[in-house]
Amino acid sequence: MELNGKRVTLGVTGGIAAYKAAELVRLLVRQGAAVRVAMSEAATRFVTPTTFQALSGNPVAVDPWDAGVANGMAHIQLAREADVLLIAPASADFLAKAANGVADNLLTTLTLARGCPLLVAPAMNRQMWHNPATQRNIATLAGDAVGILGPASGELACGESGEGRMLEPEEIVEELIAHFQPKPLQGRKVLVTAGPTFEAIDPVRGLSNLSSGKMGFAVARAAREAGAEVTLVCGPVALPTPRGVTRIDVTSALEMQAQVMLRAVTQDVFVGVAAVSDYRPRSVSEQKIKKDGSPPPVIELVENPDILAEVAALPRPPLCVGFAAETRNLAEYAETKRRAKKIPLLAGNLIQDGFGGDANRLTLFDDNGQRALEPAPKLTLARQLMARAAALLENPHAPY
Ligand code: C5P
Repeated sequence: MELNGKRVTLGVTGGIAAYKAAELVRLLVRQGAAVRVAMSEAATRFVTPTTFQALSGNPVAVDPWDAGVANGMAHIQLAREADVLLIAPASADFLAKAANGVADNLLTTLTLARGCPLLVAPAMNRQMWHNPATQRNIATLAGDAVGILGPASGELACGESGEGRMLEPEEIVEELIAHFQPKPLQGRKVLVTAGPTFEAIDPVRGLSNLSSGKMGFAVARAAREAGAEVTLVCGPVALPTPRGVTRIDVTSALEMQAQVMLRAVTQDVFVGVAAVSDYRPRSVSEQKIKKDGSPPPVIELVENPDILAEVAALPRPPLCVGFAAETRNLAEYAETKRRAKKIPLLAGNLIQDGFGGDANRLTLFDDNGQRALEPAPKLTLARQLMARAAALLENPHAPY
């Protein structure tokens, strides 16, 4: 229930993507939001107001002079009663009017009369999107602090393919959740490693570990929600990339090290969440190793670089944050690890508390002491960790 108590006014303009707005309402309600829907006349040709009324549990406004609204001022009421105004789908026509302050129907009028932030999810044919007029309108809206969500590239209703698809409802909800998060990392750059690494033995076999990547992906998402520009370097995992995060896929520890060291000096924060293999085979067999009756092969290992310690040892390192997953003696091992790697902030957890799952139990260790966080979903913990990193960036002695 990430949107509990939030009042969302959803404006639906006329376009084929309007059918996705129905699913969007369902997801918003499921996250705890109170949703009021306002439709343009054209939108009602694609989806009926009854659909939105059933899904939101609230009356739907369609016309500015709707006699059902007590004082005939639907736009003022809808704009006053919202924490955010979201227009999805937003047509080229709506964007043009909104950019110029035109108020000639319900949606444009409540946009102009709003007292809350405005987010738009454009949806149109690719040529309409790339038209200089639309691009000019989008730039104007962005300059007016309007949040522009998407559009995505892909198949378009007109049969063409290109930029102009409305974001999927799940992606819009993720953006809305991010919108409501505090922004202590605004203007900062954050680099995160996540997942396991895979160290090849031959073309089909290798050494790896059971890291799911969920904690690292949650950290990347939380850093982006907090306003940072986020790069995520991850080993082999099957997880969707958090919205707005730049993802770099790698396989081995050496590849991860190379991608991290390329970027580390320009970062404000580095969070090493990856479960990097401690060792790799000294040599990789070019051919598949066969079981041919001779004694089993002996695989000689060499140590992998410690990426986190290497970043922390840079002349002007970013604020380095590490993770320690232990099976026992958490406080002692975590503090020893933090000092050995010379990192200001470390999050420790017991493997039995969080491995592979969606929730975890973390304890934070820094120069000001330690703090046990309440057991919680990984995203909640990641937000608390990023809040602590932001506080330490401002003041290395920030009390808890
Ligand atoms: O494996 P270990 O317990 O030492 O990991 C502690 C921290 O160091 C983690 O944050 C992990 O991402 C990082 N690490 C690393 N490179 C390694 C080993 C660990 O960046 N080779």
